[in-house]
Amino acid sequence: MKTVPFRPLALGVAVLAVTVLLFGRARAGDQDYYPPVTDKITLQECGSCHIAFPPSMLPAASWKRMMGELANHFGDDASVDADTAAAITRYLTGQAGDASGRPGKLLRGLRPGEAPLRITELPKWVHEHDEVPKADWTRKDVGSKANCGACHLDAQQGYFEDD
Ligand code: HEC
Ligand code: HEC
Repeated sequence: MKTVPFRPLALGVAVLAVTVLLFGRARAGDQDYYPPVTDKITLQECGSCHIAFPPSMLPAASWKRMMGELANHFGDDASVDADTAAAITRYLTGQAGDASGRPGKLLRGLRPGEAPLRITELPKWVHEHDEVPKADWTRKDVGSKANCGACHLDAQQGYFEDD
């Protein structure tokens, strides 16, 4: 006697396959999504003067270097106590653009071992912005290249599409 095919399972597998396919596509197409900071301490200490920049936008070596020089942070004193610094460093390096071993989108063109402090000086960042008109940078509500949110309205949520 023949076994009856287990149709509900087959259907379930098919639905799952389609879901994975669609989900995979949507994610792969999300070129402008950089997961935002979710760590409370990092958000609090690194999101008060500017947005808390997405950790994947710099390599781990950059975050380590920056966290070691917070007393002179682009001319500001952004220092925190040693325990807080250690916790933030752990979080940022763990989520860094090269943490998985595969360099993230904005890190392309960076030489291994380089530890730039500015996202806005990454070769890929400069390239992504080389067609932005000069007048946009000098707009009063922009003020600085580092003021991502002035142009990328959903920067805090991790979206950096062309707004
Ligand atoms: C007291 C204010 C202050 C605090 C707190 C602060 N920053 Fe900054 N940060 C600045 C200033 C000022 C700049 C330079 C902004 C500019 O060029 O317009 C800057 C720039 C940066 C940049 C470079 C932006 C670029 O040009 O690509 C990064 C990355 C950064 N900060 C990360 C951090 C991290 C991580 C923390 C938390 C440990 C932090 N900041 C806390 C004031 C601060
Ligand atoms: C003066 C406005 C302005 C500021 C400030 C700005 N950007 Fe942009 N950015 C743009 C524009 C416009 C584009 C799209 C350029 C294009 O497609 O030619 C863009 C593109 C990008 C992209 C590529 C998006 C994609 O579709 O792949 C990223 C990532 C990005 N910006 C990140 C940042 C970050 C991070 C900051 C702050 C450190 C920042 N931008 C500041 C205007 C700005």
